[in-house]
Amino acid sequence: MHDSQTTPTSTAPNLLPVQRNQLVVPVPEDSFREAFEEAREWLDNVHERMLGGPDEVLRQNMHSLHLGLITLRRRWSPEQWRRFCKETAKKHPLRPFLHQCPFTRRAFERPRGYAGDAVLIDYLYMDRAADELHAGREIYKYMHQQPSSLSVRERKLLLARAIDETAERVPGGARILSVACGHLREAESSRAVAEHRVGELIAFDQDPLSLAEISHHNPLDVVKPVCGSVRALLSGKTKFQDMDFVYSAGLYDYLSDAVATRLTGLLFGMLRSGGRMLVANFAMYPPETGYMEAFMDWWLIYRDEDGMRALLGEVPLDQLASVRLYRDSQDNVIYLELTRR
Ligand SMILES: C[S@@+](CC[C@H](N)C(=O)[O-])C[C@H]1O[C@@H](n2cnc3c(N)ncnc32)[C@H](O)[C@@H]1O
Repeated sequence: MHDSQTTPTSTAPNLLPVQRNQLVVPVPEDSFREAFEEAREWLDNVHERMLGGPDEVLRQNMHSLHLGLITLRRRWSPEQWRRFCKETAKKHPLRPFLHQCPFTRRAFERPRGYAGDAVLIDYLYMDRAADELHAGREIYKYMHQQPSSLSVRERKLLLARAIDETAERVPGGARILSVACGHLREAESSRAVAEHRVGELIAFDQDPLSLAEISHHNPLDVVKPVCGSVRALLSGKTKFQDMDFVYSAGLYDYLSDAVATRLTGLLFGMLRSGGRMLVANFAMYPPETGYMEAFMDWWLIYRDEDGMRALLGEVPLDQLASVRLYRDSQDNVIYLELTRR
């Protein structure tokens, strides 16, 4: 596709030639500086139009901003894009303006010391705009309706359904493990959990504050919070076995290929015969990726179907009854589902 066709709006910056698939084409330093300067001026314009404009104008400019940023991300090499985020977006006055949105701000500030904590994800599960001032509320409302936000809510319902299906498949005592469970909101949407038809749902996470929240909202004879890290699983310090269903959502997006592959083999080994495993990962690339990286400092590891298949590297193939790969309705999240013989 030609450059002009990929430029989404007239407000997006028209900079260097597109580098398809982020191939690094040597570009002289002067051209970068010019390109960054042009992008900074574009951010100035977006900021100016957003300031004091009516809601409709703010929404239109959020839209232009998302499209413009993803265009720049596609156009530049990963190194150029990172440099733009660090040197230009991070220091631009548009950033504090956008940080009136509590969701955008929390990702950037990382109050728990790591990206993507469970409180941040709750901003997508719930509507928490009530306390915010005007612009912050409008930006949050916009973010709440973006495809990735819909995907996160869809993921929660899919997991709740999978818990219910496991309870039907193993009546009276299904053993389920959620790895990096966060607030385990899917359990609150599961009928089987509410009706105590699950034997045990182990909620495993490194964050004790998240586990405390789980204890307030779930029947504790079913849901068992366990504090621990992926590292403890990989080292064998923490072990689980005889599981009917093991799943992980919102974790693999942070794991390198090597760690994700090792973890997949390990979790598969925790299943009993007939048991299922489900892993979710954001696909390359949701339309919000540019905004997330530039203004939320939220960098995920995105995968495609080949990348998900490669996670089977340490799964004993003779014990594998089935493998299924599918995407959500937004084409945004890839699910890898494994069944053990
Ligand atoms: C994006 S949240 C996802 C929460 C939940 N699974 C969901 O789908 O809403 C990521 C969670 O992973 C946990 N986490 C991140 N790295 C971890 C690690 N190395 N070991 C254990 N938990 C981890 C965090 O504490 C956080 O609760």
